[in-house]
Amino acid sequence: MDAQKSPSPSARQPAASETVMVRPLLLKPQWMNGLSERLLVSHYVNNYGGALRRLNAIRARLAAVDWPRASVFEINGLKREELIAADSVILHEIYFDSLGGKGDDPPTGHEEPPDGLAHALERDFGSVAAWRAEFSAMAKALAGGSGWAILAWSERLGRLINHWAADHAHGLAGAVPILALDMYEHAYHLDFGAKAAAYVDQAMANLNWERIGARYRLAIGEAAAEDELFLPYGAPPQEEARISAEELKTALDRDDERRPFLLDVCLPTDLPRRTDMLAGATMHAPAALPRWVEGLPRNRPISVYCICGFQVSGTAVKELRRRGYDARAVVGGITAWHAIGGATVPLDSSTYEDTP
Ligand SMILES: [Fe+2]
Repeated sequence: MDAQKSPSPSARQPAASETVMVRPLLLKPQWMNGLSERLLVSHYVNNYGGALRRLNAIRARLAAVDWPRASVFEINGLKREELIAADSVILHEIYFDSLGGKGDDPPTGHEEPPDGLAHALERDFGSVAAWRAEFSAMAKALAGGSGWAILAWSERLGRLINHWAADHAHGLAGAVPILALDMYEHAYHLDFGAKAAAYVDQAMANLNWERIGARYRLAIGEAAAEDELFLPYGAPPQEEARISAEELKTALDRDDERRPFLLDVCLPTDLPRRTDMLAGATMHAPAALPRWVEGLPRNRPISVYCICGFQVSGTAVKELRRRGYDARAVVGGITAWHAIGGATVPLDSSTYEDTP
């Protein structure tokens, strides 16, 4: 079994974890500014999740390599694919973390970098507007091809730099990306067709400068409010009240009293967004909690999930724990479950309360 620790709310992978764990979406995909939920969720589940699943599969293969006897082409192939998959995972996480509004509010399109980062951009590019012009033009220049537009902090060059990347594994040595804009066609084709420039303008209107600013502070060695900024809005702040998608997968393989009871909570307005659920889950309306709570088991852990693991499951878990249940919110919800390749069944809403 993989040695996994509890999911960290920060932008960092928990130390000593053998499996590279999925990062939850921090943006609310249904409330973005001109980027559709269909596009963002497909990108997160299929492209980011695909890279993550590939990376973990490659790492498992690498762990079994007999290094003194392995062929050169096998070593080259696996190490090349490991690098490509790892860079894809990391850049996608920076990309998704860099988008979205605050809490329940969609991005305004008018936010500016926080003071520290704004001063650094002025120092290194002349002004925030000059940085933006260079970064946007660099991203648009990748139209018709693929790659990443990256804003990174370079300790060696002593400055922030916009750098071009032709693929996932193309980076400035030693630099720390703090903003990455995905210019692969899968990042925009569903919404924009071949209009890559329109996608760049729209993505720039969805930047979450608080989180980009926090990444900059971490890159230059300053403290940042990681726990708050890199935790999904409304998710329980206590680690013991959360369970990662990977931990849940392991727990569901148990065949004893510690196997979690699965509780699917969904707002009535979100029901049209749902098509599937975890096998064996029971679906309820959060507002009807007093009517269904007594039916939950008190002798088993309860894993509670919603679509993305924001306040719908977070609020339910808070209330269940207040009532003495061993409830945990699934980090990233069923969307993160999809990203790690978790199996689902068609949605069964027969237990859902019509009149909460
Ligand atoms: Fe992508």
